[in-house]
Amino acid sequence: MSPTDTKQAPVISPLRTIKNIPDFVKNPIPVLDEYISTAGDTFSLYLGPGNKATVTADPGLIQHILQKNHRNYRKSHLQTDQLAHFIGNGLLTSDGDYWLQQRRLIQPGFHRKKLSGLAGIVLGEIDLYLDRLQRRITENNTVDMFAEMTELTFNVVAKSLFSSDVEKRVLDQLSDHFNRIQSFVAKKIRQPFLSSWFHLSGEHQKHEAVAVALKDIVRNIVRQRKQSGVHPDDLLDMLLDVRYEDTGEGMTERQVLEESLILFIAGHETSANALAWTWYLLCRHPEAAARIRQEVETVLGDAPPTFESLPGLVYLDQVLQESMRLYPPAWILDRVPVEDDAFEGIALPRNQNIGIYTYGVHRNPKYWPDPEKFDPSRFTKEEIKKRPAFTYLPFGGGPRLCIGANFAMMEMQMALARMIQRFDFELIPDRPVELAPLITLRPKNGIWIRVNKRQDVLVQ
Ligand code: HEM
Repeated sequence: MSPTDTKQAPVISPLRTIKNIPDFVKNPIPVLDEYISTAGDTFSLYLGPGNKATVTADPGLIQHILQKNHRNYRKSHLQTDQLAHFIGNGLLTSDGDYWLQQRRLIQPGFHRKKLSGLAGIVLGEIDLYLDRLQRRITENNTVDMFAEMTELTFNVVAKSLFSSDVEKRVLDQLSDHFNRIQSFVAKKIRQPFLSSWFHLSGEHQKHEAVAVALKDIVRNIVRQRKQSGVHPDDLLDMLLDVRYEDTGEGMTERQVLEESLILFIAGHETSANALAWTWYLLCRHPEAAARIRQEVETVLGDAPPTFESLPGLVYLDQVLQESMRLYPPAWILDRVPVEDDAFEGIALPRNQNIGIYTYGVHRNPKYWPDPEKFDPSRFTKEEIKKRPAFTYLPFGGGPRLCIGANFAMMEMQMALARMIQRFDFELIPDRPVELAPLITLRPKNGIWIRVNKRQDVLVQ
């Protein structure tokens, strides 16, 4: 299609955009939803003078960008460069040939056979966490489920990467450093106009120092592992072991370090979000929680879940999928056309940011009748088949589909099943739950839940 055959996506006027800035900074989701309701599934808005971005909740266009013409798209500088600056160049933050080379190298590490090897580590860590939770609730049984699930998923990723090489003190340091860097990156992305101030005030440099400390810790772990000659069945072993097909060489120390950090970053906050929102939904829909408990009792009894028994937890899986439809942890994805492109007559100019608005697609009434309703039956095999491609993309799509998707599903299914076996949950009514869409879709003030040990449980 020649450029003359294309037209611009409907543009949200600069005046309207400016008027909405305060609301947008607080929570962009209602503002984007309002734009969709008046401008349609694909529209453009001004990010600053002469700086436009396109936002889309159209599955056809999304498939075009992520799959059919993916070679013409790279990640935007908005998010990726900030993360790459502090954490480094790994799968999540790289593009082009380097990304492809790394993806081919690391992908086999997440295949089914490898996952079944990791299942024991994951379950072990879930049980250790649940013992801690049980001790904690004897003193105070009101907990913030987002903080809880962050602790759980951080430990699961840490152990899946480094097995038992890391003592608790070091894990706490890692967690603290990651949190500080992630919060700062989110702050920079939301307030790009304060970039110079962050440098002048020394905040940027302070966080660079935190990143150096973080890398020192992980570099030490990697070096100790190499010297030990030990080969536990974990992700670090996989990263150290893999060989490039053409050269037969492994990754350099720096590459191993950066890919480990990326797996940490990509692999814990997302799962923590999904689990926390799932608990929120289950507390609001006790009938769904009761049905999961019934299923868990039938399939597992009091036995722990295993890699092999997880496919039997069909309803639990549907609940997780529905939870990620309503609250997709990666609520928006970013891409930039490398060359001018077009889709169904809409121009997609080179270098103009595109926001793939997953949250909007997941609540688009054209594909999801009564979209606000929590309804896990949307994810029966038959219903899934009926829906067009790219109407559901919690893990993205195309060649850059989340590499940890199966790992995350295994971890979340195991955690939910194990928690339901041991505890009862109840939402605290006077602690309203709000969205805080940062890099991931967090609950603004946490999700406060009362947790009680089940009286009739045999599992300890
Ligand atoms: C519920 C949990 C998770 C969700 C919702 C999620 C979501 C996503 C999404 C949407 C992407 C694509 C980003 C884009 O195209 O711009 C992605 C990529 C990625 N995810 Fe996940 N993720 C989850 C868990 C994990 C876990 C557990 C790991 C690793 C242990 C992981 C590692 C990665 C990596 C390395 C990438 C980059 C892949 C590439 O570009 O080749 N994720 N994830």
